[in-house]
Amino acid sequence: MMFKDYVAVVTGASRGIGYTTAKTLAKEGAHVFAIARTIGSLEALDDEIKEAGGEATLVPLDITDYDALDRLGGIIAEKYGKLDILIGNAATLGDITPISHLKPKVWQQLMDVNVTANYRLIRSLDPLLRAADNGRAVFIGSSNVARDPSPYWGGYATSKAALECLVKTYALEVEKSNLKVNIFNPGAIRTAMRARAVPGEDPSSLDTPADLMPLMLKICSPDFKDTGKVVDYRKFKNDENDFFF
Ligand SMILES: NC(=O)c1ccc[n+]([C@@H]2O[C@H](COP(=O)([O-])OP(=O)(O)OC[C@H]3O[C@@H](n4cnc5c(N)ncnc54)[C@H](OP(=O)(O)O)[C@@H]3O)[C@@H](O)[C@H]2O)c1
Repeated sequence: MMFKDYVAVVTGASRGIGYTTAKTLAKEGAHVFAIARTIGSLEALDDEIKEAGGEATLVPLDITDYDALDRLGGIIAEKYGKLDILIGNAATLGDITPISHLKPKVWQQLMDVNVTANYRLIRSLDPLLRAADNGRAVFIGSSNVARDPSPYWGGYATSKAALECLVKTYALEVEKSNLKVNIFNPGAIRTAMRARAVPGEDPSSLDTPADLMPLMLKICSPDFKDTGKVVDYRKFKNDENDFFF
């Protein structure tokens, strides 16, 4: 088991990439704090983790409940005194529409969930990540819309571009510690979010969250020493010399 005695937080653990990541980390021995709003799906995750002999703490909350994110830091500090792995995965797609048509409420939700919640996680969990021997923080980016703008994707893309700046800045600030901080670009993956974004697409043509896991495990491992990078699944899959974007 790669992560025996590790403590991990995974946001957006109720489905898609977050669900599979939480399950995979728990199977490797980590105690996983699994965050999402959908209690039934978190319970299904818990059942799967228990069946595999792992352990999880379910944290049913809306990630825009920032006070709750502060309290989570306190709870983990009291019980474990450290956090080995943070996966900032939860996100919302908003609406694929011209920027001039994007509703203010949808824009605000994009920024609250995709950007501010990750800042609040960093703020709450930074001392615990630094207290781990080999802390690893991984935030899920986009495919490429954050740096290669596409019409109608402006709300989501802007939030992911902001996330990337936030994460790279944090990586620089902790450079002298053992904590490594990176962005993971999954590309197009067979999930509910992708189906909503590109409804005409044949889902069987897409890779699955499980396909991402070898790279996810690699960047969470103590052997992975890069920091401040955008790690690209498609480059990794294509065996390119380096898999940074
Ligand atoms: N799938 C792709 O093709 C693709 C491509 C590029 C990047 N990504 C990124 O990969 C990550 C995972 O996406 P996915 O495709 O797995 O999406 P998904 O299937 O829609 O899952 C999103 C997860 O985020 C959680 N979430 C959303 N809003 C939340 C809130 N306010 N509070 C708490 N949890 C919340 C959802 O849980 P609840 O609804 O239960 O709260 C769910 O578990 C995202 O950061 C996404 O931007 C995905």
